[in-house]
Amino acid sequence: MPSGPVRVAIVGTGGIARVHAAALRPAAAAIEGRPTGGRDRGGRSGVPDAASAELVAAADVDADRLAAFAGEFGVPAAYRDLDELLREARPDLVCVCTPPHAHLEPALRCLRAGVSVLVEKPPVVSLREFDLLAGAEGDGGPWFASVYQHRFGGAQRRLKGLADGGAFGRPLLAVCHTTWFRDQAYFDVPWRGRWDTEGGGPTMGHGIHQMDMLLDVLGDWAEVRAIARRQARRTRTEDVSLAHVVFASGAVASVVNSVLSPREESYLRFDFEGASVEVTHLYGYGDGDWRITPAPGCEVPPAALHAGAPSGHREQFAEVLACLADGRRPPVSPAESRRTLSLVAAIYAAAFTGRPVMPADLGPGSPFYDRMDGGQAPW
Ligand SMILES: NC(=O)c1ccc[n+]([C@@H]2O[C@H](COP(=O)([O-])OP(=O)(O)OC[C@H]3O[C@@H](n4cnc5c(N)ncnc54)[C@H](O)[C@@H]3O)[C@@H](O)[C@H]2O)c1
Repeated sequence: MPSGPVRVAIVGTGGIARVHAAALRPAAAAIEGRPTGGRDRGGRSGVPDAASAELVAAADVDADRLAAFAGEFGVPAAYRDLDELLREARPDLVCVCTPPHAHLEPALRCLRAGVSVLVEKPPVVSLREFDLLAGAEGDGGPWFASVYQHRFGGAQRRLKGLADGGAFGRPLLAVCHTTWFRDQAYFDVPWRGRWDTEGGGPTMGHGIHQMDMLLDVLGDWAEVRAIARRQARRTRTEDVSLAHVVFASGAVASVVNSVLSPREESYLRFDFEGASVEVTHLYGYGDGDWRITPAPGCEVPPAALHAGAPSGHREQFAEVLACLADGRRPPVSPAESRRTLSLVAAIYAAAFTGRPVMPADLGPGSPFYDRMDGGQAPW
């Protein structure tokens, strides 16, 4: 448990690292400006007083990118080598912001050095890699948590609490659409659009956020049927997938993941016995993006989900820092993160085998345990 500000380091200083660095800045400023002891333990949108953060170091294999990032964010120590960073900068937490295929190795090195890691999505590129990483966590020692920042908006957290408490009755049906647009130039970045480096297309790289929100509310999935296609982009992965998912609760969901959709939208809809709950956004939501429609005869206040905080990295960091201050393991835990990654693997397995897939089909021995495409993409 750190006694002073949490010492944070970032490995991989590209696009998303800047979101991490920016999210840490206001958190630290908000903490400094506040009296101690005024912390909201109910925990929603406040940044905890007890935990403050300091970006102490960054690492990247690319010297120019590293120097630009360190200059932009005033990072005091920059390293080409992560082991050197771990030895010299002594971080409490490392944010892994490298491309997906380069998550496992730095995350393992941190855990083995006794340092906790917050790993960007997708946490790794296969279930096999995931189990290696989760297995490296210590009991009560350093932990590994995944970035799924859309779990941390106030409305999603309130929805989960209300749904878990049965406020809306049984969940019956859900719709989970990530219909985004990425032109061909987007795939010029060498690691994108490849099974070995990105682990998949929009199912793995884009829709995973919405599917994570879906699973956060509906819990364990039980069976998946799917198709995946490469319709228009010159990539090795799919550029669109469609899935039907049955949940252990009996609820059913329709899932669409696309990077071909000129009118972009992220849409989630939950039809419970007592209400429809919907959110329409793109890369992040606020309270105003949610809508509740009660079933006839059911009472649900329209502002039931109004909880203040938008979704985003800042909200997730607030929770992570609070957990570090209290010595708790933060969300999103390996068990929860694995469930989301296993749904992605199931969509690929169902699409490429043409058969329904259940969780037990994806264990060691399955080609879809070792690679998300199972070596079976038909194109
Ligand atoms: N949560 C979100 O909303 C969100 C959004 C965008 C990207 N991401 C994720 O963030 C990660 C990074 O994406 P990005 O767009 O920032 O990529 P990027 O290509 O912009 O940056 C990656 C950086 O990592 C460096 N790098 C590569 N291998 C390395 C290694 N072994 N050690 C140290 N540095 C290394 C590269 O030089 C580069 O500077 C991906 O996993 C991506 O899926 C998440």
